Amino acid sequence: MKPARVKPITIAIDGYSSTGKSTMARALAKKLNYKYIDTGAMYRGVTLFALENEFFNEVNTLNEEALKASLPKVELRFSDQNELILNARNVEGRIRGMEVSQRVSKVAALAEVRTKLVAEQQAMGKEGGIVMDGRDIGTVVFPRAELKIFMTAHPTIRAKRRLAELQSRGEEVNFEEVLENLEQRDHLDTTRAESPLKQAEDVQVLDNSDLTEAEQLEIALDWAKQRGAKV
Ligand code: DC
Repeated sequence: MKPARVKPITIAIDGYSSTGKSTMARALAKKLNYKYIDTGAMYRGVTLFALENEFFNEVNTLNEEALKASLPKVELRFSDQNELILNARNVEGRIRGMEVSQRVSKVAALAEVRTKLVAEQQAMGKEGGIVMDGRDIGTVVFPRAELKIFMTAHPTIRAKRRLAELQSRGEEVNFEEVLENLEQRDHLDTTRAESPLKQAEDVQVLDNSDLTEAEQLEIALDWAKQRGAKV
C-alpha cells in the first residue's frame, strides 16, 4: 500500500519589528523545502513606490488619494532569491533603509493597500507549503494556518539587532534613533484601525530575547512537525 501523501502545511509568523521573523521564516522554509514570503517587503515596496512618485510631501504627509488611485500600477513579485521586484525592477537594496522604514507604517495603515496585498498573499499561499511572515498573517491572511507563531523580544535587544543590520549596510544611525523608530512602529502597528498587530488565539509565542537562531529554529521545527509538516 502506498504511504498517504503528506499535505504541506501553512505556517504564519507574526510579531513586532526586528524580532528576527524573516531570518527564522527563511530558515524554516529552507528546512521544510517550502516557499517563503516576506510580506513586510511588499508594504515596503508600496512605500518606495509612493516615495518615488512624490506622494509624501516635505513634512512626510502621505497623499493617500494619489496612492490609492495609483495602486493598480504597483506590480510586486519576488525573485528566486526572494528579493522584491517592483514593476520589473529589483528594489531589495532600497526598501530596507530608514527612508522607507520611517514611512511604511502610514502606507500599511491604508485599507486599500492591505486589501490588494492580502489578496496577492493569499494567492501565493493557496497550495500550502509556505512560510509567510508579517503582522496579520495568522489573523487575516491565513486564519486557518496549521501553525501560527508570534515572535517577540525585548525592545532594546531588537534595536541592537536592527542597528547592527543598518550599520552593516553603511547607514549612519545611532541606537536611540533606531529604538525610537522601532517603538513608534510597534505603536502604530498595534493601534491602527486596519488589521492591527495582535496575537491570534491559537498562536505559539516565541520570545527570542535569549535564544540563538539555531535554538529558535529547533523550537519552530518541532512545532511544525507536531502540526503535520514532514521534516
Ligand atoms: O516586517 P517589516 O518591518 O519589514 O514590515 C514593514 C512594515 O510593514 C511594518 O511597520 C508593518 C507593516 N506590515 C504590515 O502592516 N503587515 C504585514 N503583514 C507586514 C508588514
